[in-house]
Amino acid sequence: MPTLLHVDSSPRADSVSRDLTQRYVAAWKKQNPSGTVIERNVALEPIPFVTESWIHAVYTDPAARTPEQRKLLEVSDTLVDEFLAADILVLGVPMWNFGVPAPFKAWIDQVTRVGRTFQYTESGSKGLAKAKRAIVMTARGGWYTQDSPYSAFDQQEPYIRTILAFLGIPNVDVIHAEKQNMGAENAAAACKAAQESVAVLTTAAA
Ligand SMILES: Cc1cc2nc3c(=O)[nH]c(=O)nc-3n(C[C@H](O)[C@H](O)[C@H](O)COP(=O)(O)O)c2cc1C
Repeated sequence: MPTLLHVDSSPRADSVSRDLTQRYVAAWKKQNPSGTVIERNVALEPIPFVTESWIHAVYTDPAARTPEQRKLLEVSDTLVDEFLAADILVLGVPMWNFGVPAPFKAWIDQVTRVGRTFQYTESGSKGLAKAKRAIVMTARGGWYTQDSPYSAFDQQEPYIRTILAFLGIPNVDVIHAEKQNMGAENAAAACKAAQESVAVLTTAAA
C-alpha cells in the first residue's frame, strides 16, 4: 500500500500553501483508499534545531550510542522513519524572506542523516529516499517566476529542488501561488491558477 508524507510549514489557519497541499492529499486519498497518509505541520509542532551533541550522536556508531544519545536522536529517528516510509512527498512551503521558513529548514536538518537518508560513495553522495516523487506547493507575497525582475531573489524553489535531489528524489513538481501581497485580484487569480494546476496533477495521477 502506498504511503504519502504530507508536510506543511505555514502556521496560518488560512494558509494558501496548506490549502493547496490539502487539495492534493484529499484527491490522493480518494485514488488510494487503502494508502497511508502521514501528516506533519512543522510550524505548529516545532522541530528542534541541530546542536553539537546531536551532531556527535549522529556521527557515533549506532551500536555504540549512549542512552542519552539515543534519546537525543528520537525526534530525528521518527522523522527519518516517516521520510523513508514515503512513496510520495507533498510539501507546503510559504516563502519567508526569500527562502523557506525556519521550521521547514529544521525539519530538513533532522531528516538529512548520513547513513540513513544519504551516504557518501567514491563517486559522490547518494540519496536513499524510497520516494522518487515530490509535489511542492509554495505561496509567495511577490512574484519570481516567468518574466519577473525579482527571479534572482528566489532562494526557495532552487533550495528545495537541490535538497530533494540530494536525498534521492529527482521527480519534483512545484506549484506556486504567487502575488499574494499584490492586491486581492492578483492573489485570487494566482490561487485559482495554482488550484487548477493541482487538479491537473491529481487527474494525471489517477
Ligand atoms: C515572515 C514572513 C516573511 C515573508 N517573506 C516573503 C518574501 O521574502 N517574499 C515574498 O514574496 N513573500 C513573503 N512573505 C509573504 C508570504 O510568502 C505569503 O503571505 C504567503 O501567502 C505565505 O504562505 P501561506 O499563505 O501558506 O502562509 C512573507 C510572509 C511572512 C509572514
